[in-house]
Amino acid sequence: MSETLEKFLNRVAESAEQSTLVKMTLSKPVQKHDDLRNIYVKPVLIKEKRLFAFTYHYERRDEVKNYDATQMLDMLREMIPNRFLNAVLFTVSEDVTLLVSNKGKATIQTKKVQECREQNLEHDKLKARLVNPANPWWYQLGLTTREGKITADMQHKFKQIYKYAEIVESLIKPMKFEGTVHIADMGAGKGYLTFALYELLTQRLNLDVDIKGVEIRPDLVMKINEIIKANNLKGLEFVESSIEAYHPEKLDVLIALHACNTATDDAIASGIKAGAELIVCAPCCHKQIRQEMERSGRFDAITRYGIFLERQAVMVTDTIRALILEYFGYKTQVMEFIEMEHTPKNVLLVGRRTSKVAKDPKILQQIADLKARYGIGRHYLEAALGI
Ligand SMILES: C[S@@+](CC[C@H](N)C(=O)[O-])C[C@H]1O[C@@H](n2cnc3c(N)ncnc32)[C@H](O)[C@@H]1O
Repeated sequence: MSETLEKFLNRVAESAEQSTLVKMTLSKPVQKHDDLRNIYVKPVLIKEKRLFAFTYHYERRDEVKNYDATQMLDMLREMIPNRFLNAVLFTVSEDVTLLVSNKGKATIQTKKVQECREQNLEHDKLKARLVNPANPWWYQLGLTTREGKITADMQHKFKQIYKYAEIVESLIKPMKFEGTVHIADMGAGKGYLTFALYELLTQRLNLDVDIKGVEIRPDLVMKINEIIKANNLKGLEFVESSIEAYHPEKLDVLIALHACNTATDDAIASGIKAGAELIVCAPCCHKQIRQEMERSGRFDAITRYGIFLERQAVMVTDTIRALILEYFGYKTQVMEFIEMEHTPKNVLLVGRRTSKVAKDPKILQQIADLKARYGIGRHYLEAALGI
């Protein structure tokens, strides 16, 4: 048996070396009830490195992992014959089939192929998806049916998640990271967007991550951590903490989506203090500034209309946040997160750290002018950063 297996593995090694490996399949699981049904292997080119993408087809989800040639051979040794009894190697010129009988007797069959085959180094469709609803955590988080179909009442939420993943991908893709990417998602709530972020970074961008979902509600933290454990999602964890009390040692990316009122300011302050490269927040309920504007009595004509007051408060609060970010050397952008029909909390404030910390007094003057015009005392973020 071991001699035949080694012969097969030599053929695999040879085809990997000569770039003639088109694809490979492992099938016929030893355990009939094995959740892992089969494995599909194909060569891929990632950052100019030739790797081998293993797609693990589980009963209700797929998982992709990339290995170099040595790791691929180690993985095959681990899988055959312990987990799978059949393996077929498809090269540009032949098919090599390894069959192991239930009694452990191995045979190899080689068949020359007539058609002209080529290697395709592109990722398959699974990798191209930003968020895959077939992953079991979406069912466990309550967004899909057991079969991975998005439920009717979660269609809007899923659209929001997908849009968010698209925006975050465009922001993160151009960034260069050395080693693990440290991310905090502050006010992570039920974890929908945190899981989307995890999927995007690990499965699509192939990054090593350390993602912390910071959430004050212990019930949510416990539930989400159970889901993470059940799916063995390395590098993802929920932490029970207030945003104010959470001070990460290392932070590359700070995310705070719909963290209520001044919790967004605490998150931004934490990101600035930790020197995060990228800060992405979708502020919500701008209570602090709204109340101050109302109290000032200067906008009676506008405050008669709750909607207008709210819109004014959004603009003033977030403009001052953007100015403060710029004061600390961040280049800022304000963009629409998702169409109004899906959520009124639709503004995304993005800060990208630049090499210069401007601390330009002109920016402080602009903030002071805005506050004077709108009858505002001190913006919470100023206090959080001691300016
Ligand atoms: C509106 S939800 C947003 C959840 C998620 N980020 C999203 O966009 O789907 C806000 C979450 O932030 C949490 N939260 C509010 N204030 C917080 C604070 N000061 N510290 C930590 N979590 C907080 C709430 O418990 C809630 O789960």
